[in-house]
Amino acid sequence: MPKTMFYLLLLLSLLFLTQTSASSVYSMESSTSNCSNVSIPYPFGIVGGNPAPAQGFEITCPLYGSGPRIRINNVMFGIINISLLDGFVTISANATSQQCKRNSSFSLEGTNFTFSDTRNKFTAVGCDMVAMLLNGSHGSRGYSGGCASFCSAKSDIVDGACSGVACCQASVPKGLKRLESEFTSITGQLSRHNRVNNTPACGEAFIVEQNSYAFSRGDLSNTNRDNPLYRPVVLEWSIYGGNCEEARRSSSYACKENSDCYNSSNGIGYRCNCTDGFHGNPYLQGPDGCQDIDECTMKSPCMHECLNTKGNFRCKCPAGMTGDGLKEGSGCNGTGTMVIAIVTGLALLPLLLIFMFWTYWLVKKRKLVKIRQRFFMQNGGMLLKQKLFSHSAPLRIFTSSELDKATNSFSDDNIIGRGGFGIVYKGILFDQMVVAIKKAQRVDQNQIEQFVNELVILSQVNHKNVVQLLGCCLETELPLLVYEFITNGALFHRLHNTSVLISWEDRLRIAVETASALAYLHLATKEPIIHRDVKSSNILLDENYTAKVSDFGASRPIPRNQTHVTTLVQGTLGYMDPEYFQTSQLTEKSDVYSFGVVLIELLTRQKPIYDGKTDDVRNLAWHFGMLFYQNQLLEIVDPQVAEEAGTKHVKTVAQLALRCLRLKGEERPRMIEVAIELEALRRLMKQHSVQQTETDPLLCESNHNADVIIEASSRLSLDDISEESMVLGCK
Ligand SMILES: *[C@@H]1O[C@H](CO)[C@@H](O)[C@H](O)[C@H]1NC(C)=O
Ligand SMILES: *[C@@H]1O[C@H](CO)[C@@H](O)[C@H](O)[C@H]1NC(C)=O
Ligand SMILES: *[C@@H]1O[C@H](CO)[C@@H](O)[C@H](O)[C@H]1NC(C)=O
Ligand SMILES: *[C@@H]1O[C@H](CO)[C@@H](O)[C@H](O)[C@H]1NC(C)=O
Ligand SMILES: *[C@@H]1O[C@H](CO)[C@@H](O)[C@H](O)[C@H]1NC(C)=O
Ligand SMILES: *[C@@H]1O[C@H](CO)[C@@H](O)[C@H](O)[C@H]1NC(C)=O
Ligand SMILES: *[C@@H]1O[C@H](CO)[C@@H](O)[C@H](O)[C@H]1NC(C)=O
Ligand SMILES: *[C@@H]1O[C@H](CO)[C@@H](O)[C@H](O)[C@H]1NC(C)=O
Ligand SMILES: *[C@@H]1O[C@H](CO)[C@@H](O)[C@H](O)[C@H]1NC(C)=O
Repeated sequence: MPKTMFYLLLLLSLLFLTQTSASSVYSMESSTSNCSNVSIPYPFGIVGGNPAPAQGFEITCPLYGSGPRIRINNVMFGIINISLLDGFVTISANATSQQCKRNSSFSLEGTNFTFSDTRNKFTAVGCDMVAMLLNGSHGSRGYSGGCASFCSAKSDIVDGACSGVACCQASVPKGLKRLESEFTSITGQLSRHNRVNNTPACGEAFIVEQNSYAFSRGDLSNTNRDNPLYRPVVLEWSIYGGNCEEARRSSSYACKENSDCYNSSNGIGYRCNCTDGFHGNPYLQGPDGCQDIDECTMKSPCMHECLNTKGNFRCKCPAGMTGDGLKEGSGCNGTGTMVIAIVTGLALLPLLLIFMFWTYWLVKKRKLVKIRQRFFMQNGGMLLKQKLFSHSAPLRIFTSSELDKATNSFSDDNIIGRGGFGIVYKGILFDQMVVAIKKAQRVDQNQIEQFVNELVILSQVNHKNVVQLLGCCLETELPLLVYEFITNGALFHRLHNTSVLISWEDRLRIAVETASALAYLHLATKEPIIHRDVKSSNILLDENYTAKVSDFGASRPIPRNQTHVTTLVQGTLGYMDPEYFQTSQLTEKSDVYSFGVVLIELLTRQKPIYDGKTDDVRNLAWHFGMLFYQNQLLEIVDPQVAEEAGTKHVKTVAQLALRCLRLKGEERPRMIEVAIELEALRRLMKQHSVQQTETDPLLCESNHNADVIIEASSRLSLDDISEESMVLGCK
């Protein structure tokens, strides 16, 4: 039994290893110079001091001054704290962007710092505004977050609360180097608001250490000051020169002996850390660098004798005794070694069996996987495999017999939808779960590609307003996709083919949900995903009338470094972006256009292409725009909506819709802005209907919890998507 022997040995050595690698972590004491009680560890350093600071980490310590200062883009800032281990430096800075001062911004470009995403908040103070955090410099602008703030009656503005009334907060994206904001009015009537409430017309947005800012009413009237306040801001520093892999190969590698390198979390550069069992400053060589921790001299972890080794320690038991010798381990036991060996041997036997069974099972499982892979490849799944290979999507693979049973052999009675893409069946799985199953109609390459495309895209997406793909079946001749079943069918059907009325409140919510799902697709996925076929028949409604965006057969990801892709024009008449139609260049603004049409559909209950009074065929979007500018909006707006929402409200929504329908894509708002504005309108509307008072509907929001936050980091990786999805809603 040489094989069994081998496993036994392997197991024993494993046990041995786990025993001896026990170690402890000690607090870190590093060589630093001090300046007014702030310790300054290398790579930071006082100019002229020893060791000389690394480039970009120079600090001055004025003799009679108020503590250490650092120069950032030619302005000196006070340093509050430096943390060597976490890579933070807290400074006092005017990182502020003001609404009324164009070009007011704060930049860390060209420095070794970024705003910490975990320890700061993007905070905006002002009335009736959406503050968007801009990313990128002029020309290549993007938005990486933002929040909305309203002002209601003066009594609703309370000190200390920053939750959407006069003050709002949102997360700071990873790796941010520049604070520059764009402000838009939610109601579009800033000046009027201003006159009524005597609050400033200007807002400001700043980055500030989390929890260290408390809103006070006085701040509201100070947003336009010439010298913005200095507030604590946490910066993350790192050593530049690539990630760890790259840095290790370079001659300027900063991690010295007995230290490890780790990539900094903001994705820029790296930092160092003493290896387990060592302490000191990992950036320094010699006595101040990472030194062995003598575990034995402090509170000895051993029961008896303690032997310090480099980076570790060992405990020794007195002769004739065995055990790990640790105080918090098994200690030292006095029984004869022979007996122990036999007892351990016996105890290990079941373990050994389990281990052998496990390896057997593993081998068997691999065989199974191989068989599945063969099916997978056969079914035109080469493309799919290529695309899906890099990540493990939690998709279920259904067998064809399972789905056959679920749909009554794909009987016609089970059909719930039909389209160019294929047929959708309702199915009930053996565990009673109701699902929708989409089946291609023909084995044509184009259709199979669309299926694979949808599979790939949906497996990257996890958003509560996107229909969930449960799995697929590729064993059959025609590929099948299995989705969650959405009870109430398509919005198109609900709007145009039934007499059941959806309230305006619900419609507005559906619009917000759809917009937030699309904004998520545009911003939070690895590559922006353009849906390309946004229309009311692709927005499904579940039992609570929650919107679920579906049908991603035509969708396209756009590589991050591109603003558009050129494709064959595809879409649905009446919803299609005319600019895309002309240029074949697909951008995220094409979805914005289509969404604008859906918004108008919600307002009017008219189909996007419909018969006019006088036999002519009308394009809803154009006709709507025309009536709007002729001030005859109410002719086309659903009377139910006009009654429920009031004309002012209708007009605001109409304005937003028409901005989505601008002919030039670049003039349309981004989906994220649309989502924020709609959410703001929804809250306004809700409150108005609750209050039923004569107050100006533009003064909004007495609900202190109201806060719209959109967080969308463009740096999310595929793996993050399932956990970190976009937040749009109440705090
Ligand atoms: C710096 O200050 C700390 C306590 O704040 C002190 O323990 C340390 O000795 C000081 N270092 C120097 C170089 O003065
Ligand atoms: C240093 O800290 C001590 C106690 O924390 C304080 O009394 C002293 O004023 C500080 N010195 C400076 C220069 O800030
Ligand atoms: C400085 O940062 C360290 C680590 O983050 C923290 O423990 C300490 O309390 C901070 N000191 C001050 C004055 O903020
Ligand atoms: C804002 O900055 C841009 C680009 O740097 C510049 O062209 C423009 O003149 C500036 N505007 C103002 C008002 O300073
Ligand atoms: C911050 O203050 C510095 C120095 O007073 C000034 O040059 C800079 O413009 C200010 N930054 C902002 C964003 O106001
Ligand atoms: C901002 O945009 C630039 C390119 O314009 C990109 O390199 C950077 O990663 C973006 N940063 C964030 C935080 O999204
Ligand atoms: C700090 O940033 C500057 C400019 O990017 C760079 O030249 C320098 O090497 C950086 N310093 C360190 C220690 O990474
Ligand atoms: C740092 O990032 C690079 C590239 O993403 C990766 O290859 C490397 O393993 C990472 N190193 C560490 C120590 O995390
Ligand atoms: C640095 O190393 C210590 C132990 O040596 C560990 O506890 C700590 O988590 C490490 N820090 C980082 C940021 O990796």
